[in-house]
Amino acid sequence: MSIEPIDLNSPERRADAKLTIEGLSKTFGGGADAVQALAPIDISIGLGDFLCVVGPSGCGKTTLLNIVAGFEPATAGQATLDGQVITRPGAERGVVFQQGALFNWLSVLENVAFGPRARGVPVAQARADAQKMLEMVGLGSFSSKYPYQLSGGMQQRVGIARALVNDPEVLLMDEPFAALDQQTRELLQEEVRKIWQETGKTIMWITHSIEEALFLATHIIVMSARPGKIKAAFRSRFSENPDPLIGATAEFTAARREIVGLLREESQKARRQEEHV
Ligand SMILES: Nc1ncnc2c1ncn2[C@@H]1O[C@H](COP(=O)(O)OP(=O)(O)OP(=O)(O)O)[C@@H](O)[C@H]1O
Ligand SMILES: [Mg+2]
Repeated sequence: MSIEPIDLNSPERRADAKLTIEGLSKTFGGGADAVQALAPIDISIGLGDFLCVVGPSGCGKTTLLNIVAGFEPATAGQATLDGQVITRPGAERGVVFQQGALFNWLSVLENVAFGPRARGVPVAQARADAQKMLEMVGLGSFSSKYPYQLSGGMQQRVGIARALVNDPEVLLMDEPFAALDQQTRELLQEEVRKIWQETGKTIMWITHSIEEALFLATHIIVMSARPGKIKAAFRSRFSENPDPLIGATAEFTAARREIVGLLREESQKARRQEEHV
């Protein structure tokens, strides 16, 4: 078991896609100050795929996710969900940020119930749904607390519950565990894997951690230095193995080494670019 190169834009994948990214590029600003963040990118993401995106800092990962979330327009090309071009945020796409996106003045329960309330779900139903999601992420007894009373890991779990409560078809996660310590991170990765297996959600997950990508993903893309494009794409099967210690195997180490090698080249390029800005 290991990782295998894959064409994420093959005709079969395109025909079967839940989410597509088609000829999508993005340039910020204009004239001499223009920054090309993304070169044209084409990928097809299938229903239930768990796509992890790794790439050097500044290569356009967040930009890509923001376009798919509908927060940011593409310069050229498009992203589609079930064939519909994405032009704005929508409840069918749940987003989890790196940190700090909770409302500090609302209880944990009200934070999670906020989305359903905004969509017009009656208050009792919204609260019941929120409570259920909090139980799913192991925070059932924390619903009356406020975000500042929770640890960073707990806050991220609330963020995940808040995204899940809308029953989105796609989850978009931008380094959701980056600020957490390694042990918390590993525990939450196991929880996410369980949630993904139980719900069958389609997930796009940005991370700087290759281990995280290998542990969680069905597919991994490695992006190049800015302007970000697909440098390599892999089918990964480690996430199918229930062993939480899969990371200790020789196959995992070999896969990790392969991706580290690809990323190192790009990180060095990115570094040189930054030095010349
Ligand atoms: N709103 C903006 N206006 C101008 N330039 C931007 C804007 N947002 C991002 N950029 C530029 O686009 C490039 C890609 O940024 P982005 O945040 O997508 O990178 P990233 O891959 O998410 O990086 P990191 O790993 O550090 O989070 C960077 O050069 C950044 O400076
Ligand atoms: Mg980013």
